[in-house]
Amino acid sequence: MIDEQQLRQRLACLPLGEFRFFRSVGSTNDEALLWAASGAPDLSLVYAEEQTAGRGRGGRRWFTPAGTALAFSLVLHPSPGAEPPVSFFSAVGALAVCETLRAHGLDAEIKWPNDVLIRRRKVCGILSEAIWSGSTLESVVLGIGVNIRKEAVPPAEFLNFPATSVDGETVKRADRLALLVEMLAALIYWREHMTASFFLQTWEQRLAFRGEEVEVSLDTGERRVGVLDGLTREGGLRLRAAQGQTFTVHFGEVRLRPLL
Ligand code: BTN
Repeated sequence: MIDEQQLRQRLACLPLGEFRFFRSVGSTNDEALLWAASGAPDLSLVYAEEQTAGRGRGGRRWFTPAGTALAFSLVLHPSPGAEPPVSFFSAVGALAVCETLRAHGLDAEIKWPNDVLIRRRKVCGILSEAIWSGSTLESVVLGIGVNIRKEAVPPAEFLNFPATSVDGETVKRADRLALLVEMLAALIYWREHMTASFFLQTWEQRLAFRGEEVEVSLDTGERRVGVLDGLTREGGLRLRAAQGQTFTVHFGEVRLRPLL
């Protein structure tokens, strides 16, 4: 188990905002959203060893059994002047997790928009939720869940995509605390470089299924098939249809699967 004292000490070297630790909580995103609404400083962190009502995208549940995963949410405020598309905040999370896992020799990739896969199985999910004041973006809550132990992977009937864990992909048992600190350091780095051209380039390089035919399900229920080409400047997904014409799918509108 990771305890609060231990984590506080390890986080001292990072330029985070404030920190809230829970042994068990409903959802770290819910806590962070409430905190953001009452003035949490930039880069404030909510961490939980267990979530009892973890939320995934599309209203799905997210499982975080005690001591088996990493579940945390960060409150991010947009930097004055720089206005990257909101979708770039989730990409910061995806890149941070992906690059950390790659530094440990794992072949991690990003399944657009922001799941992290290892060998085509999902190891991390990201739920980012924006708080607006009219048309002004006040803050983004970036919620990240990483399966570390094999027990963190939910039973197959709850999965909408094949899943794995870090331990399931390595010989050595992963050090959860070390991985968390590395992921947070990477997150701070990528957040600082959100507007750099290499941000989009690295995100694109890490895309899973590039050059492969995939099916995207739009919010409308419509399904489209195309070869995954890359990203638009706004972080949308660029695909090429059979007749050669390209089309773009915008953030958050799709489920993406390789065609078998
Ligand atoms: C998904 O892939 O559907 C997104 C999963 C996001 C899970 C994380 S765990 C920490 C944070 N708290 C939540 O309730 N959800 C996110």
